[in-house]
Amino acid sequence: MSKRTIVAMPGDGIGKVVLQEAIRVLDAAGFEAEYVNGDIGWDFWCNEGNPLPQRTLDLLEKHKIGLFGAITSKPKDAAFDELSPALKEKNLVYASPIVGLRQHFGLDICMRPCLTYKGNPLNFIRRGRDGGVEEPQVDVVIFRQNTEGLYGGVEWSDPPQQVYDALMTHPKFRKNFGMHPKDEVSVSTRIFTKKYTGRILRAAFEHAKKYGYKSVTLCEKPNVIRETSGMMYKMAKEMQKADYPQIPLWNTNIDAQMMWLTKNPEDYGVIVAGNMFGDIASDGFAGLIGGLGFAASAQFNPDSGIGVFEPTHGSAPKYADYAVSIVNPIAMVESACMMLDFIGENDRAKHIRKAVADVVSEGKVRTYDMLKMTGKADVVEKGAASTTQMADAIIAKL
Ligand code: NAI
Ligand code: MG
Repeated sequence: MSKRTIVAMPGDGIGKVVLQEAIRVLDAAGFEAEYVNGDIGWDFWCNEGNPLPQRTLDLLEKHKIGLFGAITSKPKDAAFDELSPALKEKNLVYASPIVGLRQHFGLDICMRPCLTYKGNPLNFIRRGRDGGVEEPQVDVVIFRQNTEGLYGGVEWSDPPQQVYDALMTHPKFRKNFGMHPKDEVSVSTRIFTKKYTGRILRAAFEHAKKYGYKSVTLCEKPNVIRETSGMMYKMAKEMQKADYPQIPLWNTNIDAQMMWLTKNPEDYGVIVAGNMFGDIASDGFAGLIGGLGFAASAQFNPDSGIGVFEPTHGSAPKYADYAVSIVNPIAMVESACMMLDFIGENDRAKHIRKAVADVVSEGKVRTYDMLKMTGKADVVEKGAASTTQMADAIIAKL
């Protein structure tokens, strides 16, 4: 088989460190690939005025599969201040390159698994009926619509007159907002389309079917957000009835889901939601299995086969300059496993996951987060594993 080419996009801060370590793990697992570097992130904003240069888009278009570390994002004004002086005249506005990637390639399916590793000291525990301590085994996969909804970017402060006039045709807008001057009104839209709502629902049901999950839960708020959540719920019911009658469809509201999260997380299987609620639900569940050091994610477009695999965490700038990196590489390694699954290297993914599980359950090598230390440069002296030592331990198990 010819070698695969993977676009490696380290980005900023700890993204650079964890990506490098994940590639070492992939190498050790015998995955044969060539990695080409994709420029993305803060330096490219400051020096070129574009955090997502066209050459990176071209590379992904060509090679289809990307591994991504993390980027640093800053608010519009702060971003402008750091722009190189020569570019300041050009009316450039900073936009997050990861959102840009999603929109450019229509990476509409986002998948975030939350799986309890045995022996992880960060696992959620609760008090059982008999007063004893229980540690539920969480195995949830969140499917988040990744391109629409509240993160779709269709928003205004002081909206254009036509938009304002259109809003004024809605009786609720007239009654509840119409008394405020236009320039004191900000609007962020929540747009769902049937096409992309259908695709995320389909992906969720297919995943449940393929891997034998006992239910699919729609986590929205159809009783209040009647048009968008309501449409999604209606479509989910129809799809389940027509194509997946053997998989029960549950319906929870996002707020209640967050409240009940800790009550019975082991009862959930696949969860599907729109963009923002999927983001919230996945962070909530990730908290039960170890948090940012463990939370992985995949985003892809099933039509083009383009996929980008990344940890949920950001660039953690305060740890970026440590001489010895202390952050946990497992989230990035898990994301690399999702990439392997996506390209059909399932056995290799399984092999790596088993190695991670063995290291975690053995408990000899633990990064600072797993030891519940405050993240400081001296944690390695105090017995925490460095990023590299954790990757070494995983490699040793392979
Ligand atoms: P963050 O995820 O970078 O860090 C928050 C805290 O979580 C860290 O200070 C650290 O205590 C912990 N943490 C994160 N990753 C860890 C790991 N692998 N191991 C152990 N502990 C870990 O989020 P923050 O501080 O809110 O944002 C920093 C920058 O990252 C911002 O510029 C933000 O915009 C960006 N960001 C980028 C994301 C992406 O690239 N997809 C996602 C989230 C934030
Ligand atoms: Mg998030």
